[in-house]
Amino acid sequence: MCGIVGYIGKRQASPILVEGLSKLEYRGYDSAGVAIIEEDEIKTTKCKGRLLNLEGKLSNDPIKGNIGIGHTRWATHGEPSDKNSHPHSNENESISVVHNGIIENYLQLREWLTSKGYKFVSETDTEVIPHLVDYYYKGDLLKAVMAATSKMEGSYAIGVVCSKEPDKVVAVRKDSPLIVGIGEDEYFIASDIPAVLNHTRNVYLLNDKEFVLMTKDGVKLFNEDGEGINKEVYHVTWNADAAEKGGYEHFMLKEIHEQPKVMRDTMTSRVMLGKNITLDDIKMTKEEIHNINKVYIVACGTAYHAGIVGKYVIEKLARIPVEVDIASEFRYRNPIVDKNTLMIVISQSGETADTLAALREAKSQGARVIAVTNVVGSSVSREADDILYTWAGPEIAVASTKAYETQLVAMYIIGLFFAENKGTLSKEKIEELKAEMLALPEKAEECLKHKEVVQKFASKTYMHKDMFFLGRGLDYAVAMEGSLKLKEISYIHSEAYAGGELKHGPIALIEKGTIVIALATQEDLFEKMVSNIKEVKTRGAKVLALALEGHEDIEKTVDSTIYLPKVNSLFTPLLSVIPLQLYSYYAAVQKGCDVDKPRNLAKSVTVE
Ligand code: M6R
Repeated sequence: MCGIVGYIGKRQASPILVEGLSKLEYRGYDSAGVAIIEEDEIKTTKCKGRLLNLEGKLSNDPIKGNIGIGHTRWATHGEPSDKNSHPHSNENESISVVHNGIIENYLQLREWLTSKGYKFVSETDTEVIPHLVDYYYKGDLLKAVMAATSKMEGSYAIGVVCSKEPDKVVAVRKDSPLIVGIGEDEYFIASDIPAVLNHTRNVYLLNDKEFVLMTKDGVKLFNEDGEGINKEVYHVTWNADAAEKGGYEHFMLKEIHEQPKVMRDTMTSRVMLGKNITLDDIKMTKEEIHNINKVYIVACGTAYHAGIVGKYVIEKLARIPVEVDIASEFRYRNPIVDKNTLMIVISQSGETADTLAALREAKSQGARVIAVTNVVGSSVSREADDILYTWAGPEIAVASTKAYETQLVAMYIIGLFFAENKGTLSKEKIEELKAEMLALPEKAEECLKHKEVVQKFASKTYMHKDMFFLGRGLDYAVAMEGSLKLKEISYIHSEAYAGGELKHGPIALIEKGTIVIALATQEDLFEKMVSNIKEVKTRGAKVLALALEGHEDIEKTVDSTIYLPKVNSLFTPLLSVIPLQLYSYYAAVQKGCDVDKPRNLAKSVTVE
């Protein structure tokens, strides 16, 4: 979704804003712009397309000034165009605004403002904001922004500058992320931390309806009643390098390779041999865990697929019934929730609008909510009762890989935590499973070594238009994720099916040369899966199989095989997803696709 940056300090704002925007490119965008105060006037440059276009315009016609705001837009209201790009201004261009989110009542506001003589030049919802601020402006920008936002419904993070008060940047958020960077005699706003990391590691993580007033002398924060508030400074401990490519051709490839590390990080100090699972931010008592009668796991996209693995794992280890829901469905289906219902929301960004809405719906009906998220201080982490942070570090590629891996780790940790507290497994069994888990990062390293086999298979198959992923049990859950990855970045249509479901319809689509990726890593379902593979082979399919070492006999049935290190079948998702991620990566590279920024997709989906 859109990205916002803002700067006030002694340096030239233009390069700082553009560099900040480049760190937000991962969020997805189709146009970009900046507004900078140059000698008490606002100068705006904006255009459709990549940041490079904006940089070109700025180098031909530079804007000099130390205060400004910048934006990358991901179109929602109005097509991507120069005119619809942000920043947007009032008629005399004394007020300029960047906005992330959606103003849901913009049509009413537009009508009302038009009746007051305001003229609109774009099709965006955002354009109502500078006009509203203009309407309420009586010489105090902060007060005018407060009055304007009190009329706005929907989600927003906004940054505002005004040429009549050329020493200020005002900002506020509601249901859209925004942080404040605190440098030395310079201050920043941004949609995400990587945008400021080259300048400072000290940030404020804003809550909804907290207003920011930045001057060259410092940052003041206010609540919606205009009262000053104090906030703890959050010190970012991860490195700026974590948000750079580090020698890899794409962020996605780098992030796939980081998976062994982030698995370890997510287990560290939580999963230890001889000790109970330790979860500092989950405060549930034994009794509360005993009383859970149902778990809903709710998420979107890849996080939803991690939830499906979570269902298998939690039901198996802790014997609690689990339902997995797509967040956008959960929120409108009137689910049965009571005080003994536990909801687990999974969200890498912690800002996904549907997931947040589902969380609120469940909380309003009395459920307790655990947030599994990668972003400290994100909206879901602030609104949930308990939190389990995944320590994946910043994930830049739009297609989620390492965050998914850590979400899986989180599912196993929660499963074991509940099993320990409910006594559903013996101490010995839990220790055995913990030991298996702790050995997984090393096995994941092994899986990364299969790059060449995968690359070869991708180079022979990337030109196909359709593919199928098959699996049973946990393999089916991973097949869904493999299929989503392929669609997202290589634009190859694919479907994931449970092996046993084939005969009920999809087998009609199998013909000579159809590509099937078959997961056969579940020991107890292996023979059944081989039968399914034979069914598609007989009809002419070309099959790539994923199997555990020791099952070399599968080679008689398939065209290529990738072997995963031997592991308890419960944990195979953490390994089997790796070759599937690599496969979609190499297929996309072969096709010449924009791997890190696939078309039409945004990293963080903060609108419904
Ligand atoms: O930030 P979230 O985990 O809540 O995002 C959920 C989905 O939008 C996300 O997983 C999406 O499906 C990714 N593009 C998958 O690669």
